Amino acid sequence: MNRGTDVSEAAAVLAAGGLVAFPTETVYGLGADASRADAVAKIFAAKGRPSGHPLIVHLPPEASLDGWAASVPDVARRLAAAAWPGPLTIILPRGPRVSLATTGGAETVGLRMPAHAMAQALLRAFGGGVAAPSANRFGAVSPTTADHVVSDLGERVDYVLDGGACDVGVESTIVDLSRGRAVLLRPGGLPREMIEEITGPLATPDAQAPAAPGTLASHYAPRARVVAVAPDDVPAAVARSVGKVAVLAPAAAFARWPALPATAHPLPDDVAAMARGLYAALRDLDAAGIDVVIAALPPAAGLGEAVGDRLLRAAGPRRSES
Ligand code: TXA
Ligand code: MG
Repeated sequence: MNRGTDVSEAAAVLAAGGLVAFPTETVYGLGADASRADAVAKIFAAKGRPSGHPLIVHLPPEASLDGWAASVPDVARRLAAAAWPGPLTIILPRGPRVSLATTGGAETVGLRMPAHAMAQALLRAFGGGVAAPSANRFGAVSPTTADHVVSDLGERVDYVLDGGACDVGVESTIVDLSRGRAVLLRPGGLPREMIEEITGPLATPDAQAPAAPGTLASHYAPRARVVAVAPDDVPAAVARSVGKVAVLAPAAAFARWPALPATAHPLPDDVAAMARGLYAALRDLDAAGIDVVIAALPPAAGLGEAVGDRLLRAAGPRRSES
C-alpha cells in the first residue's frame, strides 16, 4: 500500500484496475473503475461486503450523465444543478457505462459528484466513473481520515490519497428518482429541507423501492454497544448500564448532568460540527475500551436527521455479517 497526495499516481492505479482510497467531503471512499467488473470485485473483497450491495458511481463535476444513467428525468437535472457537486447521491436507471458488478446486478445506479477538490482532481485525471463505497470494513463506522482507512483496510488498498479530515463527516444523502417519485433512501450530508425545495416532499421507501442494503440497521456500528436516547433520558440510560460507560452528547448538555457516573465525550453543539466529529468520536470511544456509549439524539432538523439516523443504526441489532 502506498499513501500520499499524488493524484496522477492514484489515477494510474485506477486505470490499471486497482483500488484507491480517496477523500470526499462526506467520508473516504474505496474506489475502482466503475466500468470494469474485475476491478469492482476487488472492492467487495477488500471490504468483506456481499456482492449484491450496490456501489455509488462518482463523477467529476463537468461530466455528462449520458452513458452513466439510461434516462434522466427533469427533476433529477434540476436537483443535480442545485446540489452537485455536493453530498447527494441520485438513484437513476443504470446506463451502459456502469458495470452490473457495480450495481450489484440492479438496473439502477447511484450517481454522485463529490465536492472535494482532491476527489475531483482524481476523477478528472482518471477520466471515468469511480465506483466507491465508504472505505471501511463492511458494517463498521465510515472513515473520515486517511488514518482511519489505513487502520481498517491497510494492505487491501493499493493507494491511499490523503486529503486530511472530511468536512461533512456523514455519508451522502441518497434520493431515488428512478421510479417517478422522489424517495429518501438515506438521510445524509445534504439536508432533506434543501432537497424538498426542488423535489417536493420526499417519500419514505416502500416495498418497491430499490433495496439499499448498506442502510440496514446495525451498520455504522462501533465495537461498543450504543444506546441512542433523547437528551432527557441520558441519566436513566447511564444508570441502567454496566461496564465502562461513556456519554456522547453536545458539550452544552453536560452542564445538566453534574455527577454522571460515566466518561463524558462532548461533541460540538453546532450540528454540522457534530456530524463532522461523530465517527472519529465513536472510534475514539472504541480505542478507549468503552463498553456502552449512551448517545444523545439531536433534533431531527437539518444535519440532525443524518446524525440521529447514524446513532440509531449504530444502536441497531447486530447481525452476524456486520
Ligand atoms: O458519502 C457517500 O455516499 C460515500 C462516499 C464515499 O461517496 N459513499 C458511501 O457508499 O457511503 P456506501 O457504499 O458505503 O453506501 C452507499 C449506499 C449503500 O447503502 C447502497 O446500498 C446504496 O447506497 N446504493 C448504492 N447504489 C444503489 C442503487 N442503485 N439502488 C439503491 N441503493 C443504492
Ligand atoms: Mg458504507
